[in-house]
Amino acid sequence: MTHPESKKRPMTVPRFLAAKSQGRRLSMITAYDFLWAGIFDAAGIDSILVGDTVGMVVQGNNTTLPVTLEEMIYHGRMVVRGTRNALVIVDMPFMSYQVSPKQAIENAGRMIKETGASAIKLEGGLTQVETIRAVARADIPVIAHVGMKPQSIRMLGGMGKIQRDEEQLLQDAHAAEDAGAFGIVLELIPCQIAARITRELSIPTIGIGAGRECDGQVLVNCDMLGLTEGFQPKFLKQYADLRSIATEAIQQYVEEVREGIFPGKEHSHD
Ligand code: KIV
Repeated sequence: MTHPESKKRPMTVPRFLAAKSQGRRLSMITAYDFLWAGIFDAAGIDSILVGDTVGMVVQGNNTTLPVTLEEMIYHGRMVVRGTRNALVIVDMPFMSYQVSPKQAIENAGRMIKETGASAIKLEGGLTQVETIRAVARADIPVIAHVGMKPQSIRMLGGMGKIQRDEEQLLQDAHAAEDAGAFGIVLELIPCQIAARITRELSIPTIGIGAGRECDGQVLVNCDMLGLTEGFQPKFLKQYADLRSIATEAIQQYVEEVREGIFPGKEHSHD
């Protein structure tokens, strides 16, 4: 019998690009391990981003800056193992590509060879033109990331600030496309600007806090599943409250162990 999932066509870079002209909106979510990647893939997600948000939601840091290349490779591998159809994109962490295009090609190459992912993402537009061009010319598909760039937190003075400089954002987006990016993440920008960028570019725009006119949307899995505590920005829709469900399950388990209810006869071997 054929598994229903095996009938689905895997997402590729050309299919991702074609989605825009076909008017098909793209769904993307972050994942950091085999377990969740498998759940998202089976649910039909188009694309999985192994985001450097792993540094915050999994590792517990305040920023994404401490994440290393080795850690991204480790998480990328796990996600690829759990994915059958979705396009897997791995984030290049802070200081793994900013030094020079040569450094970027070498590290992006390691990312693709050692994880089996299809593409990499890096932050920047105009300032990263040479790097995007160099990596794309090495046949490594690149997604750019403009708007609020978490790796620039020291320059921005804080996370979560909406970026409103329309001319700068347009220049960044066009520069990334011209340099060979096959997609672009737009983070925390006004929806009218995101709509204009989406109209003007021929590559898909994937928004997070950038409104509904983007060609696709991305969310951080722990945020949209209600696992992260106390994070309620305006752009976030919480699709489930898994933190409460998990907490209640663990409380019941603790109580049943204390009371001698678990394990019951049915969970014990004769
Ligand atoms: O690292 C990440 O998870 C991201 C998304 C927020 C787009 O870059």
